Amino acid sequence: MTYQNDLILRAAKGEQVERVPVWLMRQAGRILPEYRATRSRAKNFIEFVKNPELACEVTVQPVDILGVDAAIIFSDILVIPEAMGLPYQMIEAKGPHFEKTIQTQADARALRVAEAGDLDYVMQAIRLTKKALGGRVPLIGFAGAPWTLFAYMVEGSGSKTFSQAKKLLYTDPELAHQVLDKITQSTIHYLQGQVAAGADMIQVFDSWAGVLGPEQYREFSLRYITRICEALHKLVPVTVFAKDAHFALNDMAALPCHTIGLDWTINAQDARRAIGNAKTLQGNADPCLLYASEKTIEAEARKMIGSFGKQRYIANLGHGLYPDTDKAKVKYFIDCIKGL
Ligand code: CP3
Repeated sequence: MTYQNDLILRAAKGEQVERVPVWLMRQAGRILPEYRATRSRAKNFIEFVKNPELACEVTVQPVDILGVDAAIIFSDILVIPEAMGLPYQMIEAKGPHFEKTIQTQADARALRVAEAGDLDYVMQAIRLTKKALGGRVPLIGFAGAPWTLFAYMVEGSGSKTFSQAKKLLYTDPELAHQVLDKITQSTIHYLQGQVAAGADMIQVFDSWAGVLGPEQYREFSLRYITRICEALHKLVPVTVFAKDAHFALNDMAALPCHTIGLDWTINAQDARRAIGNAKTLQGNADPCLLYASEKTIEAEARKMIGSFGKQRYIANLGHGLYPDTDKAKVKYFIDCIKGL
């Protein structure tokens, strides 16, 4: 595969780049009127995710409209629980809801280990998107980290504390490990399938890392993320983004992955000290920065690149774009980074 722009792949592998590559978490969707237009052609969110033509369309939109240096395949982390036997609904303005959740040994036993073929609609979307991109920029595949998926599968919805999911770690750690193991196997099959379909790099999202403490994080999350990295890192560059996991940075330095994604609470120098020079860092502007004036956005973008440096670095936000962000400000932020 030859690319017109492979900055992000080179930055992930630690090769020289002429400028800092930039993409944004949750760039496909939410802030673009073009996304909402495409979404309205599907009956609901799940049907949308399962429609490869529509998924391809919204994956390419931010490349055309915002000029980002990578596309990320439009899907959701919750497709894995569904493929394992826990269907979900996406409730407007509320988020995900699972009718069945994992509470008992019998629930854990009933979970299937998903195969890549169970998620063929994602593989089709990736193949279509690769064709539509025609090598303009690389395509990022993704999955949720096992802990974050476990949190939804036990809790049944979003939560501030995920206390029901955490309760299980204390009351039945063995059951938790059984479920995490099945999620991990499913995720490895899924991500290997994404790579076979054409994903050029992979990001693992551990959105709920921050509800665990350092020891539990090691036992119930990093152990499984390590297995995923081991199964993928020789195929493509792998990024691990663990939100609010400042306490785990030293441990994350040992992950067999290429890039560590950072949220906005982490300072560039501290991250570099913890992670060392053998990995690329990605992040970490506060998504709320994009509510600011152009002058402030430019100053902060400049500061960010100044503190991370131009090599071994991928510019991004510290979490996904908020839905009410002005598209013009998003584009301005991206243009600032590309101009620096
Ligand atoms: O990054 C991208 O642009 C690619 C698409 C993508 C989506 N979800 C589409 C989506 C990605 C990478 C995700 C990941 C995801 N999904 C995460 C991890 C990243 C993070 O934000 O921490 C999580 C925790 C989920 C679960 C999820 N999906 C929730 C809680 C919600 C509802 C609230 C929300 O964020 O909007 C979703 C829905 C969802 N997934 C939307 C999109 C574009 C919005 C739904 C809509 O269009 O109505």
